[in-house]
Amino acid sequence: MADLHTDYLGLRLRSPLVASAGPFTGDVDRIGELQDAGIGAIVLRSLFEEQIEHETSEIDRLFSVHHESFGEALSFFPDVDGYNTGADAYLTLIEEAKARADVPIIASINGSNVGGWLRYARLLEDAGADAIELNLYTVAADPMIDGDMIESEQLELVGIVASETRVPVAVKISPFYSSLASFLSRLQQAGAAGVVMFNRFYAPDLDLDTLDIAPKISLSSPNELRLPLRWIGIAREFLDISIAGSTGVHGGHDAAKLILAGADVTMMTSALLFHGISYVHQVEEELLDWMREHDYRSVAEMRGAVSRDSAADPAAYERASYIGNITSYTSRFLGTHPLRLRR
Ligand SMILES: Cc1cc2nc3c(=O)[nH]c(=O)nc-3n(C[C@H](O)[C@H](O)[C@H](O)COP(=O)(O)O)c2cc1C
Repeated sequence: MADLHTDYLGLRLRSPLVASAGPFTGDVDRIGELQDAGIGAIVLRSLFEEQIEHETSEIDRLFSVHHESFGEALSFFPDVDGYNTGADAYLTLIEEAKARADVPIIASINGSNVGGWLRYARLLEDAGADAIELNLYTVAADPMIDGDMIESEQLELVGIVASETRVPVAVKISPFYSSLASFLSRLQQAGAAGVVMFNRFYAPDLDLDTLDIAPKISLSSPNELRLPLRWIGIAREFLDISIAGSTGVHGGHDAAKLILAGADVTMMTSALLFHGISYVHQVEEELLDWMREHDYRSVAEMRGAVSRDSAADPAAYERASYIGNITSYTSRFLGTHPLRLRR
């Protein structure tokens, strides 16, 4: 049987199939099932910036109340570590996940301001997290803030969290940067141990009866694999840090494609929500079958075999393939639907 071991963020994983942050990874029983199904590592659901902001302001309020009433204010100041809020529950989740599963447990924090992250990042590692995933989920909606400013802040945040914590830090990014290759390389310089490509944005929908704007979460489709596939193929050439392929992995062949492009691991949420946790077995079987049929003995041998610098046609990852593709599609389409096009 082919060797599925892989290295991710300096951690040795038994399989490149990783559960990304989602509903299953916020529940300790499901975490146990994921490990039993053969998952290589688990990224816990995120702790959101809004949760710790609430906690920080609540502590500030308590502090000022006691400060006005008592000279010895500090003796009344609640210890953050024992304070029962969302962040506290998150630390318990890490501890329980570590006790239940012996695969690496990656804590996830979601936000883009330096704020209180540093303190929390330390608490996450103290609770036993093997690594931290920092999800830079931001919607750049302020016309007064330009791309440079946003990227500088994000890089500063990554630099601070990475330098002040002992565990490795992966950064989960969206594909929406004007020069993604440059941003990826600056993330590496800032101290990221890995990048997760990509985050998936959830756009709101408009209800035409109530005129309410409603948040809408829809699951991914396998077609969405193409975006991480292209960018991992390009980035593998100049990134030395770990790469996780995320979005659109719905089967073993999808995982094989991302690994061939250069991913160290591939992540799944939607596929597990569609098919259930035991689906991990099937994805692993599909991956192993493909490896057997194509004479790959290990994931290490596959990794990057078709990245941009190893591909037979490196330009296929870039614009050069665009004109060829639309020309061949158009001629095929004209052949099958001549009447529709002639109108
Ligand atoms: C219901 C749901 C909850 C999610 N929660 C989180 C989260 O807490 N933190 C995070 O970084 N990503 C979260 N995600 C995003 C997933 O981790 C993943 O990036 C996204 O679903 C794309 O991967 P997929 O195609 O395998 O689903 C969530 C996704 C879904 C569907």
